[in-house]
Amino acid sequence: MDKAINNVVQPSVKSLEDLTLFINDSSEQPTREEFYTNYPFYKYWNSDSNEKLLNPEGLSIYIHIPFCIQICDYCFYNKELIKSKEQVNEYVDFLCREIKMVSEKYGLKTRKVNAIYMGGGTPSVLTEKQFEQLTATLYEHHNVDPDNLEFTVEAEPGTFSKSKLEQYKANGVNRISMGVQSFDDEIIKLSSRKHTAAKAIQSIQSVHEIGGFNINIDLLSGLAGETMETWEKSLDTALGQSINLLTIYKMKTYANTNFFMKGVHTKEIELPSESREVEFMTFALDKLLAEDYQMWSTFAFSKDHSKSGYIEHTWRGQDMVAYGVSSFGKLGNINYQNLNTTHLYYERIKNDQLPIFRSFDLSFKDLIVKELLLCAARLFSYTKQEFIHKFGFDYFDLIPEAISQLTLKGYIEDRTDELVLTKQGILFGDFVSKVIADSVKNVFAKDKIGYTY
Ligand SMILES: C[S@@+](CC[C@H](N)C(=O)[O-])C[C@H]1O[C@@H](n2cnc3c(N)ncnc32)[C@H](O)[C@@H]1O
Ligand code: SF4
Repeated sequence: MDKAINNVVQPSVKSLEDLTLFINDSSEQPTREEFYTNYPFYKYWNSDSNEKLLNPEGLSIYIHIPFCIQICDYCFYNKELIKSKEQVNEYVDFLCREIKMVSEKYGLKTRKVNAIYMGGGTPSVLTEKQFEQLTATLYEHHNVDPDNLEFTVEAEPGTFSKSKLEQYKANGVNRISMGVQSFDDEIIKLSSRKHTAAKAIQSIQSVHEIGGFNINIDLLSGLAGETMETWEKSLDTALGQSINLLTIYKMKTYANTNFFMKGVHTKEIELPSESREVEFMTFALDKLLAEDYQMWSTFAFSKDHSKSGYIEHTWRGQDMVAYGVSSFGKLGNINYQNLNTTHLYYERIKNDQLPIFRSFDLSFKDLIVKELLLCAARLFSYTKQEFIHKFGFDYFDLIPEAISQLTLKGYIEDRTDELVLTKQGILFGDFVSKVIADSVKNVFAKDKIGYTY
């Protein structure tokens, strides 16, 4: 071992309190032996990260297509009614310019892409020509290997044909995520959607017939007019479609939706109460687990252990480049969002400027809170070891009181190796996440955590 390192005085300073004691302790004499020009000390370096340096982690791509054939009453996403083919042509042209500009600006062309997610709005309204132009541009400016890629397109029943599906497949798409919401015609109509349950079934069938796709269906728990009978019918119909992925979102009544206006503001329609929605979700949970579906997140179920790689990568903190109006991305520790009106988005790109609207540079503490909020209590494949590997400490040690309270109240199982949600914990998964994240924030705020090296 290096002699100089051996001679360095190694005070046991682990916290501010220790430091004060150390400085006040007359027996510890200062020396001028230390000469720090580098951190971490070389003796800790090894070859573990060489590979990561040569091949930086994969990249996800999100592309937002804001056009829809209707505006659904519950929907809070950035969307607009589709009026003409020219309107979408113009958008796709700007998207392609953005892709070229961003890839060049950030030097992304060589970085391996492992997931593409085309969301909306309704990406399946793109014509075959528009889709072709978009994917050709993506493939030209990114390092995409179709054999090692998850490529998802969000599709609405009735907005795609078999020929479109063939084209998706030829261009590397291997996952279709279909918004169905309900298989009861009355409930569908009450949400201002245009398709019927029969149309949804027919659309799912055509995806099966073309083959080669993982199929996800979105259902919404807590839609206007829902009863236990209509909900059971929706679940049974979904289960009868031989799909391998099912996502059940709790319908949240956002202030920018028609349901908020009609259900909360003017009260012209009745939305299910909070406790009724919990009953719907409890029923769904029991049914799906009885049918051998596994949960890979607190609201996503899978038949054969398949999942959304895109969501997993994103939650776990992988970089994601965002294209299109209002889309969200993350590069390094900076989260960012594009401008959220097409007019402003076009203006920027016309001037050869990136269309970024706002951003947030996450500190080390933010990264920890984010990891706990999105992964620890949400992903069913997230071990404590993964957190320790990333951040160097065990969060159970940091918030023992919150952990024992959550165990006592039946939200998490009594374990020390991993955070495992009980059924009650799954139903209130976001609550559990929040309790954990808030407790950690509290500890950070008091600055009780020591810094060790
Ligand atoms: C952006 S949409 C795209 C789906 C496609 N446009 C369609 O409607 O078929 C993705 C999903 O978000 C979900 N979603 C929309 N509004 C929601 C809300 N207020 N609360 C929870 N989930 C919502 C819906 O389940 C929808 O399928
Ligand atoms: S749910 Fe889908 S179709 Fe309906 S408004 Fe939202 S994005 Fe458009």
